[in-house]
Amino acid sequence: MIVKIAPRRGWFWALPVALLVVPFVLSACSLSPSGADLVAQECTPCHTLAPIEVAAKPEHEWRNTVYRMMAHGADLSRSEAERVIEYLAVTLGGKRSPRHAIHGYRLIFVSAVMVGAMMKLEFVWNFSDLANGLMAIPNLIALLLLSKVIKQETDRYFGSIK
Ligand code: HEC
Repeated sequence: MIVKIAPRRGWFWALPVALLVVPFVLSACSLSPSGADLVAQECTPCHTLAPIEVAAKPEHEWRNTVYRMMAHGADLSRSEAERVIEYLAVTLGGKRSPRHAIHGYRLIFVSAVMVGAMMKLEFVWNFSDLANGLMAIPNLIALLLLSKVIKQETDRYFGSIK
């Protein structure tokens, strides 16, 4: 006798919902200090917030500045530094603030989690293979456009290990 077990799909919804909700809950509980808190705490032992607030720099320049401050002695881990850089670039990014880009990206990311959880597994793998392959195109374009920054960063890195 063949016993057919009905697929229990119901709880599969829990996964995307949990993936959506958990990060928000975690950030709301602020288990780790936000970029704003880090700037207020870690960027003020040596100078006031004044030189920070008058600056309007795009993200890669904030990255240079924050890593230079760490070389001066600012007490930030790598992940804290990234949070500070994102915060500074969004709030003090000048005209080219990436705020909209970051929000748009998060929306697409979260939607992809929802849609991906509802698709057939084979389609998901094929799509991810395709997307991985296509990623080379924007990467190559970005490498060309950012060649100046790449040179700066490479020089900075090799300068720092001398
Ligand atoms: C250990 C001391 C110290 C700490 C901590 C520190 N700074 Fe500085 N900061 C300096 C010194 C010294 C200068 C002036 C020399 C220079 O610009 O490198 C400076 C200058 C600056 C300037 C003006 C120069 C520029 O490049 O625009 C900015 C902006 C700045 N700091 C941002 C920050 C931020 C953001 C943080 C927190 C991540 C921070 N600082 C933490 C020592 C510090």
